[in-house]
Amino acid sequence: MTQTPVLPETYRLIKLESVDGTNAEAKRIAASGVDLSRESIVVWADTQTAGRGRRGREWISPKGNLYFSLLFDPQCGAGEAGQLGLVVSLALQRVISGFTDQVQCKWPNDVLIGGCKVSGLLMETESSASGDLAWLVLGVGVNIAHHPKGMPFPATSLNATSLYAEGREGITVAEMLEGFVSEMDQLLTEWRTLGFSAARAAWLDVAAGLGQEITVRLPNDTLTGVFAGLDAGGALILEGPEGLRTINSGDVFFGAE
Ligand code: BTN
Repeated sequence: MTQTPVLPETYRLIKLESVDGTNAEAKRIAASGVDLSRESIVVWADTQTAGRGRRGREWISPKGNLYFSLLFDPQCGAGEAGQLGLVVSLALQRVISGFTDQVQCKWPNDVLIGGCKVSGLLMETESSASGDLAWLVLGVGVNIAHHPKGMPFPATSLNATSLYAEGREGITVAEMLEGFVSEMDQLLTEWRTLGFSAARAAWLDVAAGLGQEITVRLPNDTLTGVFAGLDAGGALILEGPEGLRTINSGDVFFGAE
């Protein structure tokens, strides 16, 4: 069983036992002036004391799950960075599918097993004077041994899936990290050379709730309609009573509320 991930040579791994948050640490490294044209950096921790989720939520981080942040120069502007969130969830969906069934992507950046959330992404960026981003941090949490209970959207972990319960050998935290970086590296190369359309189509192939009624919670509004697809940039298209609406950020729930 792999306990030490082997990463492509342009990635530097920083392994910590405990940290406030891997995103926080990655941002400190970015602020220290590291040269991201030479390397990308993966900060991986066994536990986080102040892990953060989207919209300022807490991400409880007991030992046994995967917590890491990938810091790199995306060579793109802020407007294109949202596409990378969908690319991350596609990479995770592919790796997790190697170990269990019913793995889907949930807009914008979650991965589900059997309809329950197994991973989430917190993306943070810094602009530069050139118009392109100076850096981008992709912070990923994957529930492997544990998952929270009583969440507004149900959660699960890889070890709770039926294949694992039937005695199939589980994936280690290190194997998940190694698999993700390898898959993400390939998808990033495709995204840079060919654009977003192939990843967008692949994401839609494994999308949860496509063509079905969903509810989208926005900071000051709640919308219900049919999940009709993604626009060319990865925004969600909702077909509601007043026609099509494009949504750039929000929390999706399946069904009407
Ligand atoms: C979400 O679904 O709300 C996003 C969760 C992101 C959690 C990860 S764990 C590693 C990285 N460090 C953090 O503090 N957050 C992200």
